[in-house]
Amino acid sequence: MCGIVGYIGKAGATTVLINGLRRLEYRGYDSAGVAIIDDDRIVISKSPGKVARLNDKTHADWDPTVFQRAIAGIAHTRWATHGPPTEVNAHPHLDQSGDVALVHNGIIENYRALRARLEGLGHHFYSETDTEVLAHLIGECNKGDLFQAVCDALHQVSGTFGIAVLSANEPDRIITARRGSPIVIGVGDGETIIASDSSAIVAHTQRVIYLDDNDIAIVTADSVEIRDLNNVPVTREIAELNLDAAAAEKGGYDHFMLKEIHEQPDTLSNTIRGRLDFDLGSSVLAGMGTSPRELAELNRVVLLGCGTSLHAGLVGEYAFEDLADIHAEVQQAAEFRYRNPILGSRDLVVAISQSGETADTLAAVREANQKGAFVMSLCNVVGSTIARETGRGVYLHAGPEISVASTKAFTSQVAVLIMMALKLGRGRRYSREDGIKLGREIESIPTLVARVLRQDEHIAKIATTYANNEHAFFIGRGPMYPVALEGALKLKEISYIHAEGYHAAELKHGPIALLENGTPIIALAVDIPGKDKTLGNIEECRARGARILGIVTEGDHETAECMDDFITIPSCHPLVATIPAVVALQLFAYHVARIRGCEIDQPRNLAKSVTVE
Ligand code: M6R
Repeated sequence: MCGIVGYIGKAGATTVLINGLRRLEYRGYDSAGVAIIDDDRIVISKSPGKVARLNDKTHADWDPTVFQRAIAGIAHTRWATHGPPTEVNAHPHLDQSGDVALVHNGIIENYRALRARLEGLGHHFYSETDTEVLAHLIGECNKGDLFQAVCDALHQVSGTFGIAVLSANEPDRIITARRGSPIVIGVGDGETIIASDSSAIVAHTQRVIYLDDNDIAIVTADSVEIRDLNNVPVTREIAELNLDAAAAEKGGYDHFMLKEIHEQPDTLSNTIRGRLDFDLGSSVLAGMGTSPRELAELNRVVLLGCGTSLHAGLVGEYAFEDLADIHAEVQQAAEFRYRNPILGSRDLVVAISQSGETADTLAAVREANQKGAFVMSLCNVVGSTIARETGRGVYLHAGPEISVASTKAFTSQVAVLIMMALKLGRGRRYSREDGIKLGREIESIPTLVARVLRQDEHIAKIATTYANNEHAFFIGRGPMYPVALEGALKLKEISYIHAEGYHAAELKHGPIALLENGTPIIALAVDIPGKDKTLGNIEECRARGARILGIVTEGDHETAECMDDFITIPSCHPLVATIPAVVALQLFAYHVARIRGCEIDQPRNLAKSVTVE
């Protein structure tokens, strides 16, 4: 949520900062800004809207030599929390003197009290943001040592922050700190880059340092010195990113979302490769760090997540119950710590998060750790906060997911959850022979997905029939129920069509009242147990005038004939089928949104990773 870039090193800092923002724009895109030091003063440019607009404005407003010669600066792309997305509310914010500039991710919870106190001391504020208050507080604390001023100010704030601070009086350094909002520092050759995630760094260096909560760093062109907020030095290792800069490009596709949908045969291969053991009929997930005995003694599996990751957890619930005969439940991460979760050492808690930074999931992980549960994570972003705090778990290896709508992360999450359930199942009731059979099915997932992707044009044609509707309902049963939820989420977030997912049986308990002539029902009528019941539910909808788009199994002509339109997926195990089925719905949502002329990669009001509660 919001993107931070800081740069110090060589001439051309402004371009580096703006290019970095472009790579982080998926984190927030309602306004943007940049501050550099020129001629011993801070020069700022800010704009509502996207980074491209900021770039145009900065080029128009700044003398080209100023633009090019700067060697240090900070920049920000915003997802508004305090105050609307206007130029004045955009970051960077200045202190009272105008000599200190700050960019900030997170929320300063006590900003009202701090603002009142600072106003009492004669400070004037221009924006509605909590960030401007922190900038003034740093300025107020600044007695000629920026590092100490930032430390003193941060001692007075409650809430979360990832920050970068620039001072015209100390042009050779940037101060950066974190609590609850990630900061990564890229260690280059005569240049250092600060960012809220590594996608802004990878074009410069693969060598990074992840700050921990309450770390504060003095960053110069060729050094990084880290201390805690009490000024005690701390050591953080340099890690290698192993990221391909090209992975964060569109690669010829019109949108990141389409690219990421089409990448899935590859990303799923990367997720699955080396993780199946056909001798044992099981899976190899070393990162889980569990002994067979620990697995056998587990009482329960609790899956935590938000949004798409929550839906993956729902598929996981079916997988654990089905394959491992173990009680499994999904909990919405935001609610978890506000209940009284009953947890012990024989409860396995799996936190699912693409970004590994979602604030609610992170807080749920902390709650589960505190209660002594056996906690692990399933993240895509290597080195993310959730991955590091859980210490054990499984990485997806799906590569950077840039589109705000999550696609390839979901399918990899589901693939890993099925493999986890298989591993647990083999220690309990699942036979080696069944394990080998399921392993073969898991191995074939990339091919199954490729068969759905071949229907891209057909799905685009179908989308024209549904693109003018304002409501849609997705229905499914068993493991196809979470797929219905995910299909509805994809459609609503990128096309702005009001879409709801329901268990197929639930429709007649109320929502069926909304059906009119032509209301779309997208039915997961795949040939798995329960299909006949779903077909009955489809007829109830048709009788009320609904138009039915079915996801059906290849060769199941009888079912296909019940539909107004249909997309096929190959015949496979019911759990495995969730993956090709969701890919069909991802393509459907994409084409509907495209026909409607929506901003597919950056839908309104959203941000890629939600780092505030
Ligand atoms: O990074 P996470 O997986 O923790 O993110 C969770 C949700 O914010 C995310 O899945 C969101 O629902 C996506 N926009 C869905 O496409």
